[in-house]
Amino acid sequence: GDVLGGGDEDVIVPGTASGFAPFEFINEDDELVGFDIDLAEETIDRAGYEVGDWTDTEFDSLIPSLTEGNIDFIAAGMTINEERQEAIAFSDPYYESDQAVLVAAGSDVDASAVEDLEGLIVGAQGGTTGLDEAEALVEEGILEEDDLRQYDNYPLAVEDLENGNVDAIIIDIPVAQNFASGRDVEVAFEIETGEVFGFGMRQDDDRLGDINDALGEIRDDGTYEDLIETWFE
Ligand code: ARG
Repeated sequence: GDVLGGGDEDVIVPGTASGFAPFEFINEDDELVGFDIDLAEETIDRAGYEVGDWTDTEFDSLIPSLTEGNIDFIAAGMTINEERQEAIAFSDPYYESDQAVLVAAGSDVDASAVEDLEGLIVGAQGGTTGLDEAEALVEEGILEEDDLRQYDNYPLAVEDLENGNVDAIIIDIPVAQNFASGRDVEVAFEIETGEVFGFGMRQDDDRLGDINDALGEIRDDGTYEDLIETWFE
């Protein structure tokens, strides 16, 4: 192999952006855990590679980290889209999701469709498809550019919702539901985006074929379902 990533063909060094439960988060024992963590490790292992040490960084820096070779693999609930496919390659899809609009519990924000967000302050994590949605609403004239808030991670955005510093945040549904079950926030409505998540790898990394084979196996033998039950039910 070349000098990228771990620089070792046998080792795949994964990276993620925690604060996105149940996909990736830091538990009470200060460990990085979640559906993506388990699925990534199982996939890399079954594909016949060693799992390197996880890097936990901001979502925004994952693609540069991958292309620069600091990590070999992104497992971060990352939506497969054309813009990202210009820079990196994705595995076969492993999860489907839409977006949700999260508001403070019992807040007077009465919104059941994107048009109702007019005049509100809306936030999302930097570099996410949630932020893309918010920017599209600016384009449509529903939101003001100045009323967009960009956060390094979603826990910071949720804190601002609870404090009343932002009126609504746009975030992947399963993560919205997870915040709603533990924090003072609730899902106002959903935005159908039909996104699918994939693992990211460099475009020239020929280990991607083994990763896809392993993912297929994990689905076929029931391991995938077990992981879903562990992290989502
Ligand atoms: N699915 C969304 C996207 O791809 C959000 C992903 C955020 N992931 C994270 N680990 N914080 O943009």
